[in-house]
Amino acid sequence: MTERLEILNNRKHCYDIVFTDNFDSLYEEMKNLNLTDNKICIITDSNVEQFWFDKIYEAFSPVKDRVYKCVIPAGESSKNLESINSIYSYLIESGFDRKSVLIALGGGVVGDMTGFVAATFLRGISYVQVPTTLLSQCDSSIGGKTAVDFNGYKNMIGAFYMPSFVYMNLSTLSTLPDRQYYSGFAEVMKYGIIKDEEFYNWLIENMYEIRDKETETLIEMVYRSCQIKKYYVEKDPKEKGDRVILNFGHTIGHAIEKYMNFELFHGECVALGCVCAAFISMKKGYLDSDEFYEIRDMFVPFCLPISVDDIDTKEVLRLSKSDKKMDNGIIRFILIKKIGKAFIDTTVTDEEILEALDEINFTEEDAHE
Ligand SMILES: NC(=O)c1ccc[n+]([C@@H]2O[C@H](COP(=O)([O-])OP(=O)(O)OC[C@H]3O[C@@H](n4cnc5c(N)ncnc54)[C@H](O)[C@@H]3O)[C@@H](O)[C@H]2O)c1
Ligand SMILES: [Zn+2]
Repeated sequence: MTERLEILNNRKHCYDIVFTDNFDSLYEEMKNLNLTDNKICIITDSNVEQFWFDKIYEAFSPVKDRVYKCVIPAGESSKNLESINSIYSYLIESGFDRKSVLIALGGGVVGDMTGFVAATFLRGISYVQVPTTLLSQCDSSIGGKTAVDFNGYKNMIGAFYMPSFVYMNLSTLSTLPDRQYYSGFAEVMKYGIIKDEEFYNWLIENMYEIRDKETETLIEMVYRSCQIKKYYVEKDPKEKGDRVILNFGHTIGHAIEKYMNFELFHGECVALGCVCAAFISMKKGYLDSDEFYEIRDMFVPFCLPISVDDIDTKEVLRLSKSDKKMDNGIIRFILIKKIGKAFIDTTVTDEEILEALDEINFTEEDAHE
């Protein structure tokens, strides 16, 4: 089974996404876009290289002598301007020019960095995303946001720069550690909660197939997630309005991520943030308590946390206010009226945020109860 989705920009074709379970048609797809006539550099990280480089390289056998490889150390700590420097140097030494093409083979770190290099090298060259984590497949590989971290600030330096093509080989998820997989799944759940109740119910009905990474299920799951991301990206390509809805669970999620010094994975913090946002939606009278508990408890079978040990809730509140998504000091909070119907709310108070944080906070006292 192969699916395909077209991403538009201002109603015009921008790029295609292919969803499949192998690398068989990657070369042909790129050839049709005239992306195989010049030098190609596959940028990857030290983990992904071990599992997937040989397989993708094989797919390029007709033009093998033009294919180069650039490997960066795995992990967020590589997502900085020094790594970008080393990639620029490698491309220059290898004689890359304006017509050369980059391929990002990896998760969001490789994707964001490759996109940034593509946006800036020789004022912009073409690149292709080949995402290999669930997070990058459902989220970071589409939408054209590229970036690196700078002086401890996440994604501080970057550009909007669209890929020429996105190729998802979902069999790459077979080697992804489970904790990474479920962390990415939090974003999938988020899509259902904000935009598509039917998809949300489908996720729950297909829980076992999702946990087993059953191929057809993965293709459908990632395809439907991308359809929802497509909806927001096309509506608001530069993130000036409605795209902020995708931030559901992220205002508090990012704050917990920072508070925990990035010991919890992004998706784990997003799950906690979604629980808080659902709680606030209940407190404001949009959800009844059954709906809130249903949303909360459905993260559990997907190995995602719904509580956290002994956090300083006031400190988390403070951190939530330094989130980039603030608009002139007002937090644009994303709440839901029901599953599948999210909206922007600017009336959430500090007290409501603290109460939501108390709800997920598991303290010493709780332990004695
Ligand atoms: N551009 C955007 O719109 C956007 C959106 C969300 C997140 N992001 C960025 O994405 C990054 C996080 O992405 P991520 O979660 O994919 O992290 P990541 O790229 O660091 O990958 C997570 C880990 O999994 C390993 N890995 C990747 N694919 C694998 C595979 N198939 N098998 C085995 N191991 C594999 C990686 O080496 C790494 O250790 C962050 O830097 C974040 O800022 C960007
Ligand atoms: Zn996220």
